[in-house]
Amino acid sequence: MRLAGIKSVKAGDKLALPVCTSSGKVVLNSGIVLNDNYIDKLRNLRIYKVYIDDGRFDDIEVIQPIDLKTRNLAIQVLSMTQEAIQKGKTVDEYLIKDAAKNIVDYVRDYKDKGVSILSTSAVDEYIIEHSINVAILSAFLGNKMSYNFNQLCDLVAGALIHDLGRDNSKEENAEHTQKGFDVMRKSRGLSLHSSIVCYEHHENFDGTGYPRKLKGKAISEFSRVVRVADYYDYILQGYDNKDISLMPHQAYENMLAVAGKIVDPEIVEVFRDTIVFYPNGCSVVLSNGLTGIVIRQNIGSPQRPVVRVYNDTAVLGEIDLLKSLTLFIKDVLVM
Ligand SMILES: [Fe+2]
Ligand SMILES: [Fe+2]
Repeated sequence: MRLAGIKSVKAGDKLALPVCTSSGKVVLNSGIVLNDNYIDKLRNLRIYKVYIDDGRFDDIEVIQPIDLKTRNLAIQVLSMTQEAIQKGKTVDEYLIKDAAKNIVDYVRDYKDKGVSILSTSAVDEYIIEHSINVAILSAFLGNKMSYNFNQLCDLVAGALIHDLGRDNSKEENAEHTQKGFDVMRKSRGLSLHSSIVCYEHHENFDGTGYPRKLKGKAISEFSRVVRVADYYDYILQGYDNKDISLMPHQAYENMLAVAGKIVDPEIVEVFRDTIVFYPNGCSVVLSNGLTGIVIRQNIGSPQRPVVRVYNDTAVLGEIDLLKSLTLFIKDVLVM
């Protein structure tokens, strides 16, 4: 299969993976042959990328950032928690801890594959989708930073709840940090290291954030980790740019530009070693002009995956960019 931008999808293309909403409802199932109506439907749902069947790339493994069972459980828990907060009811922090533990278990098994978060679903539950992405990214970061199991669970719990003080709109007001923290700190089963993330995740590394304008290491480490994950997901999903999502390498470049200002530069460096810039299945153009599909990753060198190159008539071979150092990826064709 290959990842195709909605602009390049044609009637007759067959979906290789189902298209879902962020809360897990299937919009179009795998195996469906697309027609113009379906393509319009995808566009209306603001789905910009889909996986298409392609015999030349059947062996490509698409790395999902998390399995469906873990995701669905986290969705359920976050919905319940969000509702409880809005209605002023008590929050069941043990459910949050369970959801966090499941994410940590999954990520620890898949840490060598790198994390690849892409916008390929229709976002119906914005905060929940965002919170799960931030939790997954934080788990990969914490893992790379050699956190032990309990630290990882506390970090991921903090990431899951970081924005639950918000309502479901995309605007973030300053009060959500205080609101989330006020609820979470009363949950005795939750570590203060987790709940403080609600309060501090908008503090900027250079002291220009809110609510307290904390600077550098005065911001708790968990909050600095979540800030990186949070900022990255925000840029990646295009929340700052009319929902026009970016590819991971572009979102990373944007984040690099604010390292030391908004985000902790040391954690940004760890992040580079954790993520996948060019996900398996994505079409790229190499500096020698050849077109290809990314088929494997070299984790730690996100800009240098293995690419299967082809022309109109045949597959020409595979190029490992970690070995062919004079070549680089010039362009990505998933727009
Ligand atoms: Fe926030
Ligand atoms: Fe956030």
